[in-house]
Amino acid sequence: MTDLLRRPPLALCRAADPLYEPADVRRLFDRMASSYDRMNLVLSLGFSALWRRQLLSLVRASGSPRRVLDLMSGRGETWAEIERRLPRAEITAVDFSAQMTAQARIRNRARFGGRVRLRQEDALAGTSQDASFDVVVSAYGLKTFDAGQLERLAAEVVRTLRPGGSFAFIDITEPGCGPLRTAYRAYLRWIVPLAGLLLLTDPTEYRMLHRYLAGFGDGSRAVEAFRAEPGLEVEVRRHFFGCALSISGRRV
Ligand SMILES: C[S@@+](CC[C@H](N)C(=O)[O-])C[C@H]1O[C@@H](n2cnc3c(N)ncnc32)[C@H](O)[C@@H]1O
Repeated sequence: MTDLLRRPPLALCRAADPLYEPADVRRLFDRMASSYDRMNLVLSLGFSALWRRQLLSLVRASGSPRRVLDLMSGRGETWAEIERRLPRAEITAVDFSAQMTAQARIRNRARFGGRVRLRQEDALAGTSQDASFDVVVSAYGLKTFDAGQLERLAAEVVRTLRPGGSFAFIDITEPGCGPLRTAYRAYLRWIVPLAGLLLLTDPTEYRMLHRYLAGFGDGSRAVEAFRAEPGLEVEVRRHFFGCALSISGRRV
């Protein structure tokens, strides 16, 4: 916590690699916002929805948790699963893309009666109060963070969770097995942008996915960042031959 306070806000830090510059990541998702939902479902062959369900199954629901923070919440893709698993949840959703948040606002009104508290801001901005959440979850938001940002994210999870609170993150990763990895890379590099074109979106954005995934690899930088946090008990799981990684656990 004190360590976190000593760190400058992310907006003042430049990412070591321009790929992870927050303003550029935000712009990328602004451009993807209108097509994100359908592309996500089609291109992941339905796995993205399955893994969101698995994400919520990792949350330990002891003590009837209510205050749930959904980080990198996008257009609100995870909320239905949060409410299914935690029916008393009061969801706060944080995403820094104005366009993704605008789409999330529409979903919030149409399907959630405006119950979700939406905050358009950087997940590392440090605006949540200490120990103000029982649960922190996040789907597919890790791969656009570099190692330093992931350390800050893990520290933010410690700071904002109440002691005993539960957290779970999931993201896609490159599979460990050689032939599967080659096929997976080819799929992301060629098929995904092509499908983007066919679905009338700009393939450039979806090509970026390939770059972030190649940079994220097997997700070990995220595992290291969370494991390095003494305030967290961490469990790591690989899903579907290493095509996704979850990092979950509790605040000690
Ligand atoms: C791949 S989408 C995931 C959306 C959603 N959670 C889902 O399950 O599909 C990643 C989202 O993370 C957001 N994001 C990335 N870095 C962020 C940051 N530092 N702070 C807040 N949001 C961020 C992006 O704007 C984008 O909406």
